[in-house]
Amino acid sequence: MSSIFNEWLAKATEETEAVVYDYLPKEEGHQKTIFSAMNYSVKAGGKRLRPLLMREAYRMFGGTGKEVEPFMAAMEMIHTSSLIHDDLPCMDNDEFRRGKPTTWKVFGYDMAVLAGDALMIFAFETASRAFSMGADPQRVGQAIKILAEKTGIYGMIGGQTVDVELTGKPVPKEKLDFIYRLKTGALLEASLMIGAVLAGASEEEVGAMEQIAADVGLAFQVQDDILDVTSTEEALGKPVLSDEKNQKTTYVTLEGLEKAGQDVREISERALRQLKALPGEKEHLEGIIAMLVEREK
Ligand code: IPE
Ligand code: IPE
Ligand code: MG
Ligand code: MG
Ligand code: MG
Repeated sequence: MSSIFNEWLAKATEETEAVVYDYLPKEEGHQKTIFSAMNYSVKAGGKRLRPLLMREAYRMFGGTGKEVEPFMAAMEMIHTSSLIHDDLPCMDNDEFRRGKPTTWKVFGYDMAVLAGDALMIFAFETASRAFSMGADPQRVGQAIKILAEKTGIYGMIGGQTVDVELTGKPVPKEKLDFIYRLKTGALLEASLMIGAVLAGASEEEVGAMEQIAADVGLAFQVQDDILDVTSTEEALGKPVLSDEKNQKTTYVTLEGLEKAGQDVREISERALRQLKALPGEKEHLEGIIAMLVEREK
């Protein structure tokens, strides 16, 4: 990865994080605990990949306004809510996330459940602020629809459902692909699609972005599985061998490390080829997709 790209990425991540922080609630009032639990989880860190992808998709299709910003914040809130719930003892039972104790370790089970719920619904409250930012209301409405569909039962939550249900059971490859497409792919799809929709991309272009993101998501989750067995807790900021502890079938258990790594590269190359065929300035998105293949956290 070139140092120019790395510098750009560090700055872009910082800018993205600032946008997300702008939309977090103030920690005051009788229900202060929920605000603190929400903000703790979001501010713990993370790559901010999804809002950054959204911003870059928006710019690629010529977007120059501010209405993408509440959607960027909303996306990171939903992603963080999925992590808070994923770490709960009744799910993956993990105690470390983004380099800090998980939300349930700090705030208790009750507040962690509520913080996940709160971030998920506050995300929609936040996204709907785009209506008063001078944007095309039809585009904003379409973006909210995508956000809901890709988060819910036909998206991330649907995928987590099958993931949890099949814990400890053998999972055939097609079903694993389904789980990954939904539990991880769906929020990445929403990120690229919403950026494109808000910038006024055509239906065909939005569909292409969905397919590209589905591949990026699949490769991303396979790489996550690889890192779960090859990395360290220090590097990842979350526990390693979580999948083994939970008797999860993963790409690594099904195909082995080497083939899984090869799949990450091939699937990412397919995404890059499809991206190349689209109009617009795509250098940053290409850089991000290439970076994800090599990522170590
Ligand atoms: C972790 O996502 C959950 C998966 C879908 C694998 P990220 O690896 O993007 O987590 P953060 O946001 O950087 O913490
Ligand atoms: C998580 O998959 C996908 C989500 C929707 C949160 P994992 O359970 O593998 O994610 P990590 O490894 O805990 O981040
Ligand atoms: Mg999980
Ligand atoms: Mg997990
Ligand atoms: Mg994992």
